[in-house]
Amino acid sequence: MDALEITTDPRRFDIAAIHRFLTGSYWSPGIPRALVERAIANSLCFGALLGGAQVGFARAITDKATFAYLADVFVVEEHRGKGIARRLMDAIVAHPDLQGLRRTMLITRDAHGLYERYGFRRVDDADRIMAVTRADVYRK
Ligand SMILES: CC(C)(COP(=O)(O)OP(=O)(O)OC[C@H]1O[C@@H](n2cnc3c(N)ncnc32)[C@H](O)[C@@H]1OP(=O)(O)O)[C@@H](O)C(=O)NCCC(=O)NCCS
Repeated sequence: MDALEITTDPRRFDIAAIHRFLTGSYWSPGIPRALVERAIANSLCFGALLGGAQVGFARAITDKATFAYLADVFVVEEHRGKGIARRLMDAIVAHPDLQGLRRTMLITRDAHGLYERYGFRRVDDADRIMAVTRADVYRK
């Protein structure tokens, strides 16, 4: 993992690779590339590059003052289990723009164990949380 680099410089991201993963993911099936590009442009993003190739990604949607929402966290299948997601999370929790926030949120289907290492907990006030959810928004 010596060649693994975590960068927040979007010019170094492989947008095609990020889109390929996200459009096939369980949480944003069918998302168009243009929306992925707009989301990246308006977020604080973290790319995991192995020998320069995009092997992982995470996106913090944030005001850089009080709140962040962590989204689109992934590591490509062939490089899972090597600590790359932990490297991404280490970079996220250490980032200067994400310090002192009042709340950081995320939604996950099964990766609770990963995030628990970084202080995330299942909310005990879930009945206060509301959302408009359109899971099939990109499906024709
Ligand atoms: C979840 C995911 C990002 C983990 O990436 P990874 O690079 O394989 O993870 P790491 O090797 O850094 O290990 C993560 C740690 O979290 C743990 N973990 C808990 N739940 C996990 C899960 N569902 N998948 C993978 N690891 C999980 C691992 O056991 C590991 O713990 P350890 O260090 O004590 O062994 C990757 O499996 C992935 O992209 N999955 C598909 C997309 C996804 O579900 N993303 C999360 C959306 S919220």
